[in-house]
Amino acid sequence: LRGDQVIVVSNREPYIHEKGPDGVIVKRPASGLVTAVEPVMRACSGTWIAHGSGSADHDVVDSNDRVMVPPGHDEYVLRRLWLTPEEEQGFYYGFSNEGLWPLCHVAHVRPVFREADWNRYREVNQRFADAVVAEAVVEDPVVLVQDYHFALLPAMIRKKLPRATILTFWHIPWPNPESFGICPWRREILEGMLGSTILGFHTRFHCKNFIETVDRYLEARIEHEHSTISFHDDDTLVESYPISIEWPSDREVATWAPVDVCRRNVRERFGYGPDHYIAVGVDRFDYTKGILERLHAVERLLEKHPKWVGRFSFIQVAAPSRSSLEEYRSFQDRIQQVTERINKRFGSEGYLPVHLLAEHHEHAALIELYRAAEICVVTSLHDGMNLVCKEFVAARDDELGVLILSRFAGAAREMPEALIVNPYHVEECADALEQGLAMPAAEQRERMASLRASVREFNVYRWAGRMLADGGRSRLRDRIQAR
Ligand code: G6P
Repeated sequence: LRGDQVIVVSNREPYIHEKGPDGVIVKRPASGLVTAVEPVMRACSGTWIAHGSGSADHDVVDSNDRVMVPPGHDEYVLRRLWLTPEEEQGFYYGFSNEGLWPLCHVAHVRPVFREADWNRYREVNQRFADAVVAEAVVEDPVVLVQDYHFALLPAMIRKKLPRATILTFWHIPWPNPESFGICPWRREILEGMLGSTILGFHTRFHCKNFIETVDRYLEARIEHEHSTISFHDDDTLVESYPISIEWPSDREVATWAPVDVCRRNVRERFGYGPDHYIAVGVDRFDYTKGILERLHAVERLLEKHPKWVGRFSFIQVAAPSRSSLEEYRSFQDRIQQVTERINKRFGSEGYLPVHLLAEHHEHAALIELYRAAEICVVTSLHDGMNLVCKEFVAARDDELGVLILSRFAGAAREMPEALIVNPYHVEECADALEQGLAMPAAEQRERMASLRASVREFNVYRWAGRMLADGGRSRLRDRIQAR
């Protein structure tokens, strides 16, 4: 695909410009999608179209709403699209995050479907499709459509740019046909997605669910052998591409403080001595992440093994997310309450078993935490992939540290060396914490070295490379057939 025009479309932008006290500051959002796609975009340049959401976003773009990023490096174009408050409400908060998000994640939160939200969702998808057409300088660009905010976009683009190669990646799980079938617009969504040349999911299991869903609700021809779906004369390859992270370069690693310095810094910040044990959790403050379940596990650990009281703390970073939705606000309140209850029950002067840091943390601060901790806890109730576990592993060049990982995160399939848990099983999670705290260094090294080798190899360039190579093959075939 070298030389071809690449256009990425996502709702969340890779860089957010905010008004700060001393001028404009640039933020990187807490988003697995952005973590994964951004390094790929830096490598292949092109244009990224996304919703401009920062308070200073308007101030830094040119008259075509474009700005070069990363700031100071100018490697690709970020084209911002502005949503009205009503569009943001209906498209982003409403249909995307109150409808599709709980529909696709089995976290037992009931999806809400409103006709008005659906109309906004359609309109906003159309606006992004028009932006893709406006940004296209060739009739056959390669368009990378990202995530559940844009289920209708592939077919809309296909209509205007029939020769485009449309590679759609669904960053969240795909449920079974019964679950998906409750969506009043299931047919429109499936038809929209089938405008894609390739439709990617994290796991084979999600591909299978998608194919079965199409089989149930559309009259499409499914070729199981090649994992393709033919609908209205178009073929879509449905394939799994497990997403990953950019493996840190030697130059980046050289900027990190040594592990013992990170350990000391973090312990001093919380008022603990060098022998205090620490586990960390790093998530968006989202009900799918299993934060409540992990607090229960921490509580159970302290109950079962009182020797850890006063010697062990759990630090939860929870980046505020989608907070204007009631479901998120009440979840965040609940976590605050449970944290306070556990701290009251087991805390004492100068000691808190749980530290809840409900604020956005920059990458460097997270690296320090990962390097300081004995354990990283990822207990998602359901997660497409989860990149926190991969970032933790990448941060541990000392080859120490234990990963506790939910079996319901896509990553569990690739990281069996972690302590794999069912987050709903409090006892099992408490035992995993105890096992992690007591794990001999030699065993930690063995597991961590193996985890690191696999994340290093199956990094995000492998993810993008495989998808782009499949896209390239399909372009070649189209060209040959057009002769
Ligand atoms: C998940 C979604 C992404 C999204 C991210 C952050 O990872 O798959 O599309 O960007 O959450 O959520 P937000 O709503 O803040 O973009």
